Amino acid sequence: MCGIIGYVGSRPALPILIEGLRRLEYRGYDSAGVALIDHGQLKVTKSAGRLSVLEQMLDFEADPTTGIGHTRWATHGAPTDVNAHPQQDASGNIAVIHNGIIENDRALRTYLERQGVVFRSETDTEVLAQLIGRFYEGNLEQAVRQALHDVSGAYAIAVVCSQEPNVIVAARKGSPLLIGIGKGENLLASDAAAILAHTTQVVYLGDGEMAHITPQHVRMTTLDAIPVTKNVEEIEWSLSEIELAGYEHFMLKEIHEQPASLETCLRGRIDLREGAVHLGGLRDCTRELTRAKRIILTACGTAWHAALVGKYMFEELIRTPTETEYASEFRYRNPVIDDGTLVIAVSQSGETADTLAALAEAKQRGALTLGVVNVVGSSIARETDAGVYLHVGPEIGVASTKAFTGQVAVLALMACYLGRRKHLSPAACTQFLTALNQIPDQIRQILQHEEEARAVAERYCEKENWLYLGRGYNYPVALEGALKLKEISYIHAEGLPAAEMKHGPIALINEGMPVVVVATAGTQYEKIISNIQQVKARGGSVIAVATEGDREIKRLAEHVLYVPDTLEPLQPLLAVIPLQLIAYHAAVLRGCNVDKPRNLAKSVTVE
Ligand code: AGP
Repeated sequence: MCGIIGYVGSRPALPILIEGLRRLEYRGYDSAGVALIDHGQLKVTKSAGRLSVLEQMLDFEADPTTGIGHTRWATHGAPTDVNAHPQQDASGNIAVIHNGIIENDRALRTYLERQGVVFRSETDTEVLAQLIGRFYEGNLEQAVRQALHDVSGAYAIAVVCSQEPNVIVAARKGSPLLIGIGKGENLLASDAAAILAHTTQVVYLGDGEMAHITPQHVRMTTLDAIPVTKNVEEIEWSLSEIELAGYEHFMLKEIHEQPASLETCLRGRIDLREGAVHLGGLRDCTRELTRAKRIILTACGTAWHAALVGKYMFEELIRTPTETEYASEFRYRNPVIDDGTLVIAVSQSGETADTLAALAEAKQRGALTLGVVNVVGSSIARETDAGVYLHVGPEIGVASTKAFTGQVAVLALMACYLGRRKHLSPAACTQFLTALNQIPDQIRQILQHEEEARAVAERYCEKENWLYLGRGYNYPVALEGALKLKEISYIHAEGLPAAEMKHGPIALINEGMPVVVVATAGTQYEKIISNIQQVKARGGSVIAVATEGDREIKRLAEHVLYVPDTLEPLQPLLAVIPLQLIAYHAAVLRGCNVDKPRNLAKSVTVE
């Protein structure tokens, strides 16, 4: 996902742009660039590679006060200097930065080439820059408006022009863009982290909206020039929340934040006396929700694993048929959505393209839609009929950790909220909520044994193939543990329902192969013990996650990582913690870039 930052005001723009791009690095990128208006001249500096490469190239005599900056995650065209943003028009007076994909860029490129335009890059963004340049007759906002009418696809753009030195024109459709309101200055960014050091007052640009930004004003309109009025919102996050705070990596910080982030997530939502859950975001549609005949949870990646835990919880506590769908599959498979279908999109960023598209598909077919999202004001949060925010704070590390436990906790709250309105007794709810309330402290206990997880990572981090097994509520935990290891240590790992082993994967097991088995106390404990025996009989090395006090498993497993006991539906919140730590330490031991793993981005806002 590309990063966008813009500044217009009276202070030097360059340091603000570079600092903002640095705060966006976690999103993953492969090139970066800035455009500033320096004494009426547009100066563009850009390069493939990290921000540090760009910084070596910067050379500005004066201190320009208008500028835009971009970190690019390549979609159209390789990550090269030429393909980096900003992209310029033929005159060199207009510069554009862009997050998203112009779907009709080939047709537009052909049309412009026939008009004599000579393209320098392979990017769809240059097509947009050239188009704006063709329409420019002294009014940048108008030229951008005209160009966007010819464009189809998703975009968040910022445009500057040497003839209009104190102006940034911005527009969005499908990719996030927010405007930071300052005193005698204004900023623009693809996410709050980039501008939080300068303002907490923001306006979220909506789809099909544009903004004309100067140091004194922010004028918003639709693409058809109809004025738009928006509320100024306060960003809840503090700067310290988006900084490392002494940890070596954001991922480790966020693993350790989980007791606090879950306390924040649960705060004000649990009433133990009444055995009730308070979710203000669902208040206006509770009746429709309790009438739902079928629930579909749709998501991607880790969010899909949380959704799978949700499926088990919903069917156990609400007794409503519930399915979990990969958003990328759901959006294209012509799904059956009938009256009484509730579709819940689960997403940390609230910007994942496939999840957004699945949501649009569900809405178009008449489903009631909810969002379970972390980023306030994100697209999914605004596209759904209602929803529940995670409130776990910004998640910077690409590998999702506290968002996963936040998603599972919110789904647990929703299961109790809806179950209570169907057949769950107050006593049953109180028991469930009491156990949920204890989870943060129980995670604190687990984190005190981090060294044991690190020792497992150290023992097996050279092994290139791991298996993760679990049953029932621990099956999604096995999937999540495998994904964590894969995405940050680049070790191949596969998560499976433990009983599936005998249907093929058991052939993989050879001497010393690490097999992580999530074997906490529960209804399928005896079954999982026999799975462990099957693994050992083939020479596999079993690393078990087990419930404190379980002495039997110590006889069988090479390593046991203990977690406190809790109700089965809540066990994923605990069992996942050792797996997050194993993945983190394996990645560090293998010298991987933990917070910015290769090929990955924090939020996949394109297909
Ligand atoms: C998980 O560690 C990854 N970051 C990835 O699988 C992520 O969960 C997925 O891309 C969904 O992102 P979202 O929650 O922001 O929609």
